[in-house]
Amino acid sequence: MTVQIAAKADATQAAREVAVRASHVSMDFGSGALAVDDASFELEKGRFLTILGPSGSGKTTLLRMIAGFQKQTAGEITINGKAVDAAPPHRRSVGMVFQKLALFPHMTAAENVAFPLKMRRFNPRQIAGRVDQFLDLVKLGGYGDRRINELSGGQQQRVAIARALVFEPDLLLLDEPLAALDVKLREEMQLEFRRIQHELGVTTINVTHDQREALVVSDNVIVMDGGRIQQQADPVALYRAPANPFVAGFLGLSSFVEGTATADGNLKVGDLVVQGTAARRFETGAPVVAAIRAEQIRLAGTREALAACDMTLEGRVCDTIFEGERQMYVVEIGALCGATFRVYHHDPDSFGLFRVGDPVALGWNRRDLKIFSPAA
Ligand SMILES: Nc1ncnc2c1ncn2[C@@H]1O[C@H](COP(=O)(O)OP(=O)(O)OP(=O)(O)O)[C@@H](O)[C@H]1O
Ligand SMILES: [Mg+2]
Repeated sequence: MTVQIAAKADATQAAREVAVRASHVSMDFGSGALAVDDASFELEKGRFLTILGPSGSGKTTLLRMIAGFQKQTAGEITINGKAVDAAPPHRRSVGMVFQKLALFPHMTAAENVAFPLKMRRFNPRQIAGRVDQFLDLVKLGGYGDRRINELSGGQQQRVAIARALVFEPDLLLLDEPLAALDVKLREEMQLEFRRIQHELGVTTINVTHDQREALVVSDNVIVMDGGRIQQQADPVALYRAPANPFVAGFLGLSSFVEGTATADGNLKVGDLVVQGTAARRFETGAPVVAAIRAEQIRLAGTREALAACDMTLEGRVCDTIFEGERQMYVVEIGALCGATFRVYHHDPDSFGLFRVGDPVALGWNRRDLKIFSPAA
């Protein structure tokens, strides 16, 4: 690899510096609800942050404000300590890749990558060498003379990444640049993003509604819903300890059951006390909701077979879906007032073991059933 960029060399020292800070940022388009509602976060230099959330949750609006394309109606955003509104977008050191790539179709790959260097009046004698370095970085060495329409979707994506990085921006912003690609190519490009970001050490903010992408590529993830930041954490912590029912439902496959809090921190559904874990104390009798992930429930023919679990109950299979690497069972649980739990079964030898209508036993451990305040 020929690209030499200083940023990575002092990555450990740089890791403690804040690159992007948003403080109480809101965007009011005047259409009722705020598109972004009181968002605050910090991103350390050299880290990879993903903003994850469903359609309309405010991801693009937040990214556009960071890029300086849109001025927030409240709060402040700083990049390397300077307020974002101090300079027009083309004067800032920000590289961007959008869902629509906006490459110049009549130019070659090399001409596209050279464009930001020409705009920034780089020494013309150094441009060709640098373009080659960055085409190498995205594994397109030798493709420089191809026109954009002679490249595949994934190759075009790589040209767009090279073009966004070639002038060594302080910050790389990505707004769902992989959304148009097929699943295989998307997964390949996610790993490419990760590799390139590691190699260059460029601070990156990526926007996506794909939870797998967020978990795979990021050091840190912000989950948004309804314009509000729901949680910010590293991928493992986010998956393991969701802050609320929205996050529990958005990452992975969770089943929910409503009830009331007991004095000893469990959940009461009808007359049954269900063991679970809560991150905070609730008043006895307060309405609560519990969530459990499909891979944390065990399934067997009898409750005796699940003796190792903290909690076991009986249910009846009401649907089964074969998903290739696993079988998903939907199980109705009479003792939980007919709530249904979705359960993953990963052992291929026992796929199809249970059929619709079969009685089954379910078991889980107390720490895996998470008790929350009901969604607002
Ligand atoms: N220019 C605008 N004028 C008025 N409302 C807007 C404008 N841009 C976005 N919105 C609204 O702000 C909210 C957030 O939009 P935004 O584009 O940030 O969502 P998103 O999370 O990027 O969604 P998606 O995943 O669909 O791209 C939406 O309700 C949207 O309709
Ligand atoms: Mg968007």
